[in-house]
Amino acid sequence: MTSREIREAFLHFFNQKGHQIVPSAPVVVKNDPTLMFTNAGMNQFKELFLGERVASYSRATDSQRCLRVSGKHNDLEEVGIDTYHHTLFEMLGNWSFGDYFKKEAIAWAWELLTEVYKLDVDRLYVTIFEGDEGDGLAKDMEAYDFWKAFIAEDRILLGNKKDNFWEMGDTGPCGPCSEIHYDMRPDAERAAVSGADLVNQDDPQVIEIWNLVFMQYNRLKSGALESLPAQHVDTGMGFERLVRAIQGKVSNYDTDVFQPLISFTSQRSGIPYGQNEQTDIAMRVLADHVRAVSFTIADGQLPSNNKAGYVIRRILRRAVRYAYTFLGFKEPFLNELVPILSQQFKGVFAVLSDQVDFVQKVVLEEELSFLRTLTTGIQRFESYDDTAKQIDGEFAFELFDTYGFPIDLTELLAREKNLTVDMAGFQAALNKQKERSRAATILDLSDWTVLQDDVQTEFVGYDTLSAQAQIVKYRKVTAKGKDQYQLILDVTPFYPEGGGQVGDVGTLVNTVTQEKINIVSTKKENALIVHFVDQLPASLEGDFVATVDAEKRTDSEANHSATHLLHAALREVLGTHVQQKGSLVSPDVLRFDIMHFSKVTDEEIKQVEDIVNAKIRANIALKEERNTPYQEAIASGVTALFGEKYGDYVRVITFDDDFSKELCGGTHVSATGKIGFFKIVSESAVAAGVRRIEAVTGRRSAGLIREQFEMVSSMKELLHNPKDFVQSLEKILDENSALKKEVQQAITDRSLALKTTLLDQVTPIGDVQYLAARVAIPHAEAVKGLAYALRDAVPNLFLVLATVIDDKPFLLVMIADELAKAKGWNAGAIIRELAKEVQGGGGGQPFFATAGGKDVSGIDRALERAREFVI
Ligand code: ALA
Repeated sequence: MTSREIREAFLHFFNQKGHQIVPSAPVVVKNDPTLMFTNAGMNQFKELFLGERVASYSRATDSQRCLRVSGKHNDLEEVGIDTYHHTLFEMLGNWSFGDYFKKEAIAWAWELLTEVYKLDVDRLYVTIFEGDEGDGLAKDMEAYDFWKAFIAEDRILLGNKKDNFWEMGDTGPCGPCSEIHYDMRPDAERAAVSGADLVNQDDPQVIEIWNLVFMQYNRLKSGALESLPAQHVDTGMGFERLVRAIQGKVSNYDTDVFQPLISFTSQRSGIPYGQNEQTDIAMRVLADHVRAVSFTIADGQLPSNNKAGYVIRRILRRAVRYAYTFLGFKEPFLNELVPILSQQFKGVFAVLSDQVDFVQKVVLEEELSFLRTLTTGIQRFESYDDTAKQIDGEFAFELFDTYGFPIDLTELLAREKNLTVDMAGFQAALNKQKERSRAATILDLSDWTVLQDDVQTEFVGYDTLSAQAQIVKYRKVTAKGKDQYQLILDVTPFYPEGGGQVGDVGTLVNTVTQEKINIVSTKKENALIVHFVDQLPASLEGDFVATVDAEKRTDSEANHSATHLLHAALREVLGTHVQQKGSLVSPDVLRFDIMHFSKVTDEEIKQVEDIVNAKIRANIALKEERNTPYQEAIASGVTALFGEKYGDYVRVITFDDDFSKELCGGTHVSATGKIGFFKIVSESAVAAGVRRIEAVTGRRSAGLIREQFEMVSSMKELLHNPKDFVQSLEKILDENSALKKEVQQAITDRSLALKTTLLDQVTPIGDVQYLAARVAIPHAEAVKGLAYALRDAVPNLFLVLATVIDDKPFLLVMIADELAKAKGWNAGAIIRELAKEVQGGGGGQPFFATAGGKDVSGIDRALERAREFVI
């Protein structure tokens, strides 16, 4: 079976068993402060397990792209070195949301593996949870008994909490699990040592392929477990491992999932795969990393210097570093793998094939910029003190962090120079950085205090800005040392930050006591609408009125609707390749990032503005459809965004059927006329292939026009209201530069005239011709010119000049070359001494130095002291 067939067979199998096939969620996570990347198939269903949302189906199946490179599940350092860990991998999964439980999950897993995939029963082992005293959990005898029906009891092994109790993160849904392992060793080895002894022992040939999790608990911050409202099944099968088992290969990288990437790399580098460990590792690293990098970019996360963007930048650099060092690629290469990958995933994860040129371009630009950095890194490494025996941990970390040297590589390079690496020091530096980024990003969340059970918030913010509400639950949140509280209401008009639009702010007023609390922001966390407040109301029970700040909301709405018009206009003017790559809609400004490979010209900007303003003047009424089935919306030609997770039912926002139709959860004006006037204020580059447009509307654009108008009026007034303003400004600028030239010439002439006077003041001190003088030339270049002229006229000159420029002292020391050499004098050292008299500093070369200072009154003292240096 090919990998494509294996994937299809899985989805088909579970679809036949009543599971809805759902699309993979993007690999970049939004709306969950505990997670940066999707690390398991169940992430997108977390809210269903927690009972925060009810799904329209109770059974689902999919292939989810996952990334395990940060947080609790992190495999990065293993990748490439071994043959079965990956950064990005596909997790095949089937889920029951309060529907079937252990019995069916086990029976179906067995049926699929042995009857559809025809895996060898003699190579299969399963594990069940042995129980845990600390958590007060007993051995999972239920799972044991269900397995017994299919597999010999000596193949059912017990596993501890680490292996057989699955948790998504430090908190969240979890439960006991049952893993399925496959022994891929040759018969002789299997006869000699039982596979049962190698399960969970890191044997590269006896590996876990599938994990069946029986979700029934929620891990609280306190560490305690609470039962979930219902029992669920969450399974995850490592697709690449499964393919290897079915295709009978010894390495995941030998399957058709990775071979196209590896053979291309081998062909382009001229190095065969499978003959040398070092180059094999490098090829595996490339084949693996290009997948992580490409899908993350396709899902909307560009490489950058912080958070998710930085993780991806580091993975990319790790790949480039391996390619450069072991495969001889001194020019960008990784990007060439992107089209091959895109071809492989056509029809599976279209998010890549739909944007392949863009992704390749971003990777290429990153490679180019990193290869420049790398050269510096290599020089840094080469110039490392070779009297040292060991590479300092901090330095190894710098190479790792700034120059993308994986630590194993630094060790290798060190060995070539007979050096070791201070691994403990490296680890310490790494931990320190991890701690820093943890402190910067992770919120410290306490457990919820629940006032009302099983209440799902009703969002009424599309229709009203004020609603009567009660508090359902609340918790404390600490970020960057600041305490806040999060409130969940039963009804809320507050729009939570999302789709680029900032969250609402407003007030919460107790209907009895009239106590008023400010809601300072509103965010979404999975399915919850979270209101942030700086303090809790004195009484949490009873009725409140929740009211949104109407002015801010209205301004945001104007900007949000304008963003849709802008998007449509850009597609009209620049072409339909223009994809949204980011958006910020705030009350003050709208910022819109698009995929486009050249600057948007002034002419194009004008056309876009004209289209948008025409649509505004046409006062098109908003058409809002709240519950359109996703497929139907897509079929009608709406604009959907990459990297966005859409539900089964979507909201469609239309302004003129033939113009702008987008899937959007944001709030909008009721008719475009309310946007007022639209003005683009800037256009710039944010990354390779991404342009940023900033614009204002409504009150802001009116304000901006007034401001600009007033500025021009006052400028005109200053010029005495000329007929042609620009022309007269040009004239003034021309005059100004002519005058500058004249002044310059006058100063030069004056300083040359001074030369004659100064020559008379030169006094011999021994064999030195000495001159220290104050001159009235307010121009550094002219003073320097004068100094050079004096030096050329007088042999063995020791010269100090002082002047005042812009009310500040300026000193200069010039010593004839031969004199400086003969006497060992140094103008730089001398000027530093003299500059002390004017509270300043400076420096230069042995024969010439200058200094600035603060205290003009010290000039005479400085000139007097000059003599000390020649006597
Ligand atoms: N969520 C489970 C895992 O990731 C299936 O292993």
